[in-house]
Amino acid sequence: MKKIFAANWKLHISPREAREFFEEFQLLPLADAELIFFPSAISAEAVSESLKKTPHSFGLQHCHWEESGAFTGENSMKVLKELGGKYVLIGHSERRSLFGESDIDVNRKARKAQNLGLTPLICIGESLEEREQKKTFRVLETQLELATRELENSFVIAYEPVWAIGTGQVASAEQVAEAHQFIAEQLEKKGFSGRPLLYGGSVKPENAAQLLKVANVHGFLIGGASLKPEILGKIIQSM
Ligand code: PGA
Repeated sequence: MKKIFAANWKLHISPREAREFFEEFQLLPLADAELIFFPSAISAEAVSESLKKTPHSFGLQHCHWEESGAFTGENSMKVLKELGGKYVLIGHSERRSLFGESDIDVNRKARKAQNLGLTPLICIGESLEEREQKKTFRVLETQLELATRELENSFVIAYEPVWAIGTGQVASAEQVAEAHQFIAEQLEKKGFSGRPLLYGGSVKPENAAQLLKVANVHGFLIGGASLKPEILGKIIQSM
C-alpha cells in the first residue's frame, strides 16, 4: 500500500503563502507515497492550481453534508469537486470539540462525500481522560461504528489521540501499534478491507521513521509540522 502523508493546515496559510509553499516544496511524483493537502477553504483554489499536473491531491478540512442551500458559513463538497479536490477531512477532534460535530454528522458527511465521488478521511481518537479511564478501545469502537455505517469500502481513517494533537506529546510506538491493530480488526469485522490507517498527533521529523515502521500505520495526518516545506519534506523522507 502507498504511504499517505496528509497535511492539515488548519487555520494557517493564506493563498499567497500556499503559492510560496509550493514554489519551495518538491512536488515530484513519489513512487510509493501520496500527498494530500488540507488548506483552509479560502486557500483551496491556490492549492488546486499549484497541484495541477502533479499526482498529489487536496481536500477541505470540513464540509457540510448538503451540497448547497441556506447554510451560512459552510463549505460545499460540490464546489470542492469543481475545484478538483478529492478528499474531505471529517470528524477532526477540533471540529468535534470546538464546533460540536457529532458522530452522526461525521457519518452524514462521509456518506455524502462518497456519493459525490470524494474520499472521506475520518478522524477518531480518545481524550486523555478517556485513556486514563481505560476507555480508549470503547471510544474507538463507538466512533468507528457510527462513522462507517452504510459506507462503501473507500475511506481513510486517521487515529488521532486527542491528547497528542498540537501538544508535542506524541503517542508511543506501542500505543500506536495497539490502537491501529484494534482499528484494523474492527474494520475487518465490519467487512472493510485494505483501508489505509493514518496516525496523527505531534508527528515530526524526529519521530516519523519510528512511527512509520509500526504495523498497520500507512501514513500520517500532520498538523504543525506540515506548515513548513522543509519540515514536511523531512517527514516524507523518513519513509
Ligand atoms: P499536530 O496536529 O501534528 O500539530 O499535532 C495533527 C492534527 O491535528 O491533525
